[in-house]
Amino acid sequence: MTTAKACANIALVKYWGKRDATLNLPAAGSLSLTLDALTTTTRVEFDDALTSDALSINGSPADATRLTNWLDLVRARAGIRSRARVKSHNNFPTASGLASSASAYAALAVAASDAAGLTLNERELSVLARRGSGSAARSIFGGLVEMNPGEQADGSDAYASPLAFDAQWPLAMVVGVVGGGVAKKQSSRDAMQLCADTSPLYQGWLNSVPGDIAAAKRAIADRDLEALGSVAEASALAMHAAAIASRPTVMYWQAPTLGCMQAIRELRESGVPAFFTMDAGPHVKVLTEATHVPAVWAALAQIPGVSNVLTSGVGGPATIVADELLPAPVGEARVSG
Ligand code: PMV
Repeated sequence: MTTAKACANIALVKYWGKRDATLNLPAAGSLSLTLDALTTTTRVEFDDALTSDALSINGSPADATRLTNWLDLVRARAGIRSRARVKSHNNFPTASGLASSASAYAALAVAASDAAGLTLNERELSVLARRGSGSAARSIFGGLVEMNPGEQADGSDAYASPLAFDAQWPLAMVVGVVGGGVAKKQSSRDAMQLCADTSPLYQGWLNSVPGDIAAAKRAIADRDLEALGSVAEASALAMHAAAIASRPTVMYWQAPTLGCMQAIRELRESGVPAFFTMDAGPHVKVLTEATHVPAVWAALAQIPGVSNVLTSGVGGPATIVADELLPAPVGEARVSG
């Protein structure tokens, strides 16, 4: 039995589109910031007495179909057949475009591989996490992280790696939660496929990614928030433009999403360096530095339809933790020992 904890990450240069849907291979690279305030803690226990995998998320039983397919990869590699009991806890809204699948599969990769008796290095963990969710490959690492799309057909070179950056750089993210963090209607997996198949802007979007990654890496090396934030905003807008142009449309934005974007632009005009990005949900994530968090928080909190504002600093890598760190759901007594 092993428990692991992983942080969510938010892409500053987005991943949107696959070169292989089965192996979950990205069509282009991506670049992200790992967030310390949004975490998933997951306990995996293989048990010969189980006849099927059992999953609970935040204390409620959940469908384990996708998990079972992924655990089969771990079982095959470890040469075991036992089913697993998996208990997962997110400290933030699940499946709403707040990157829960990234922290979920990163925590799972660390916990399940260890519980199955495997010793994997970070690159192997990143590849394994990627099979669950493309963005999860990045959550194996802390700080600023680059996903390498790779070229191999088997995906062995499609893994993430951490980027060197000034450890004193107090990057922060402020998240305007729109619509109460309800579960999203269209999965990023389905939406990416529809976009690739039908959007006249998909190829243009893909063509924009390598230049944006190069610009983001230059900005990181120069510790230039303005340059990094500008490329992050541009990448998010290009990804959403391609998605919106899908037929039928993939439209994650809601009215408060646009309200937040406008408020951040106005904040910037008043001299506060703050840059927005959005994923497969209506929430708006704002990149800034720690000193500007109160101003960004206030700007987002006043938008009608923003139900909550979360703030986060830079997170660390996915790690094995003491089992006691898995929060006990309300009403469930913690069994110790
Ligand atoms: O990891 P997935 O398959 O849920 O895809 C993530 C897609 C975005 O969040 C929209 C972008 C990204 O790079 O995280």
